[in-house]
Parts: sequence; C-alpha cells; structure tokens
Amino acid sequence: MRASDLIEKKKQGGELTEQEIDFLIRGYVKGEIPDYQMSAWAMAVYFRGMTERETGWLTMAMARSGEMLDLSFIKGCKADKHSTGGVGDKTTLVIGPIVASLGVKVAKMSGRGLGHTGGTLDKLESIPGFRTALTDEEFYRIVQEVGICIAGQTKALVPADQMLYALRDVTATVDSLPLIASSIMSKKLACGSDAILLDVKTGSGAFMKTEGEARELAERMVKIGKMAGKKMAALITDMDVPLGRAIGNALEVREAIDTLKGEGPEDFTQICLELAANMLFLAEKGSLDQCRKLAEEAVASGRALDIFARMVEAQGGDARVAEDPALLPQASESMEVKAGEDGFVTAMDAQGCGTAAMVLGAGREKKEDPVQMDAGILLKKKTGDQVKQGDTLAVLYTSQKERLKEGARLLLASYRIGPAPAPDRPHIFARIG
Ligand code: URA
Repeated sequence: MRASDLIEKKKQGGELTEQEIDFLIRGYVKGEIPDYQMSAWAMAVYFRGMTERETGWLTMAMARSGEMLDLSFIKGCKADKHSTGGVGDKTTLVIGPIVASLGVKVAKMSGRGLGHTGGTLDKLESIPGFRTALTDEEFYRIVQEVGICIAGQTKALVPADQMLYALRDVTATVDSLPLIASSIMSKKLACGSDAILLDVKTGSGAFMKTEGEARELAERMVKIGKMAGKKMAALITDMDVPLGRAIGNALEVREAIDTLKGEGPEDFTQICLELAANMLFLAEKGSLDQCRKLAEEAVASGRALDIFARMVEAQGGDARVAEDPALLPQASESMEVKAGEDGFVTAMDAQGCGTAAMVLGAGREKKEDPVQMDAGILLKKKTGDQVKQGDTLAVLYTSQKERLKEGARLLLASYRIGPAPAPDRPHIFARIG
C-alpha cells in the first residue's frame, strides 16, 4: 500500500477501506507517513468528504492509536458527556455530580480553554489545590470511590488526533465535518464509557454557527458511537447567548455551585437538568421524564452538591468552596459596563463576550498563555431583557487594571439594543438519539 495512491483515491472521491485508513493512521503515528502526505489527504477529505463507514473506521483507527481506558472493572454504567464548546459552558461541573449522585459513574477527561471558549480543566483549577493531572490509578480510584473524576487527557490518549489536529490547524482543514466528528469521537471512545451524551452547540458563540451544521455533526457522531457499540444521544443546544450569567473560571465555578444548590440562573439550570436527564436515560435509570425528576431531586436534596464537594476533596482541592464560594479567587479590580440607550437587548454576540473575557485574562489567545483564575464577566442583562440608559449590562473582573478598557469595549460591542424585544429562542433545538 502507498500513501500517494490513497490520496489519489480520495482526491477522485473514492471510499477508502478500513485497512487503507488503518494504514494511513498507523503510518502517520509511527512517522512513516510524513506531514505533507497527511495534509494532502486531509485536504482531499475536506473537498470530497467521507462516507459514514469511512468516518467510523477513521475514528476507531485514531482511538486505537494510543492507550484506551478500560473501565470494565468498575461496576455499573459509566457515562460520559461532550460539549462542542461555548461561552459560559460550565455544565460538566453540575451534570457530572448530579449523575454520579444517582449511581452512574462519570470518568471524564476534559480540556482547556482556547480563544473565546473556556475549558473545564481551567475552571476546576480555580479551586485552590484542585489537581487535574492524575495518574491512571488515581483516576480509576476516584471514579470508583466518589463516582466521578474529571482529569486532563494524557499524551498517551489518542496520539493520532493530537498530531492530526495540529496539522489541520495549519492546513485550513479543521472545518471538515468527518474530521471534526472523528476527532471528537476518537477521544470519547478511548475514554471507555458505555454511554455518551453529546451537547452540540449552535449559534454565534459555537463552532457550528447554524442549526443545520450542528445537526449534521451530531448525527454523524451518534452514528459513529453506535457503530462502536455505545449508547448514544445528542442534544442540539443554544450558544447564541452565553450560558448562564458567569464567564471566566472562578466565576463559573461559583455559578455551578449556586446551581447545584438550586439557586442558579434559569437558562443554565434548565440545560443542566435536561442534559443530566439524558445521561441518566442513556444509563437506563428510567424514562426521560423520570430521569428529569431524579435530576431535580438530586439537586433539591443536596446529594449532587455533596458529590461535587467529595470530588473536589479527592482531587486535592479545598472542598469548603462548596459551602463558601468566597474562598475562590477574587479579582482586585472591577468595572461596570452601562447601557448607552433605552430599549431591549435584542441579541448578543456570544463569541464577542468570550473574547472580552479572554482579554480580561480569563482565557488564552495561544495554547501556552497563562490564565487568570479570577478574571471574567458577570452578565446582568441578557437577550430579551429591557434596559434603561445607564443600567449596568455587565460587571467585568480582573486583577490587571489595564485590561478593563479593552474588555469593556469588546463587551459593549457584543450587545445589540433595539426598540422591541427579540422573539424567544429555545434553549434546546433537538434531540438525536
Ligand atoms: N474539537 C475537537 O476535538 N476536534 C475537532 O476537530 C474540532 C473541535
């Protein structure tokens, strides 16, 4: 087999076989197939696409390229979730403890933030002492003892995706549906859970800007997971407006704790309960309605918050934050951003809000940049709200005063204020499963 023949076949729109895809991925990881041939193949895929079978084979070949977690020694259903990312998306911090408090084990590998989107690891690391770099043994032990562990992905997991993603990033081939689907699903499959819930976001702050694109990606990923024998479902959820009111690491942890206490913002609470219900449903805890009630009870009884605190403690963090979020890092500087006119907030550019938070220090422009745990934004007004000139739209936080001016400019530019309220947008567009 020769890589150049396989590139030619894809260039002509042919379907590669499972063996041919295996050959490409194995050869690439071993260094036998060079970057320039993989780039040409990725570009051919970009223009010609992949069949469902090919996408499934590519996903499996990538998942098998490194270590695969074996959770089979842990009894019961292990459930995982993945969000395609957005602004203010701290759902994992709420859903994970809810689901784990109901006996479904959550063994979750999460990522860091980049650009306008945040990352679960950064958020958790804002809790003093919290460790996300764990050994496999620590990870397994915490899943077994507490029911949930959230850690960083090790280098040994899916090396093919790490290499291919870096290549796609510099060859304009990131936005290929089969390559995105296989990249995400290879990591999920390597993590070894039995059930996987996908939260595919759509809107101005999401990777998939339209509902149609989000649905296509969700359907493709659900099929891949089913091909691999997993229980799968996907929700298409709104990311036209930041989720909840907090953007930025410690601020988001605080909002997640409030939500676990039943005191979170309405939009965020509803999304969390629906996602948790869907995870419980995949884990066969009852009908969707029953699972939703179970999720509500887990919050009302305080059991979910208790599991959150136990996870924090097991991962080296100060579990007192669950009762006293004031122990989280607090920014020394703040600034209120005010409305310049009367009217209604008709739209928000969620990506713009995320970029404003990044500029304040909450996110990174480049992978190696540090993040400020205390930086971020609390939104006081969101799409649909009425405002009067001089009302506070949002409060910005940072410990670097010089960042406030640019953060305020970007945030203000993200708000659209008009004379009439915008029609309501649903939080959840569709369920695919
Ligand atoms: N996220 C991933 O993990 N992979 C992609 O290709 C795109 C987004």
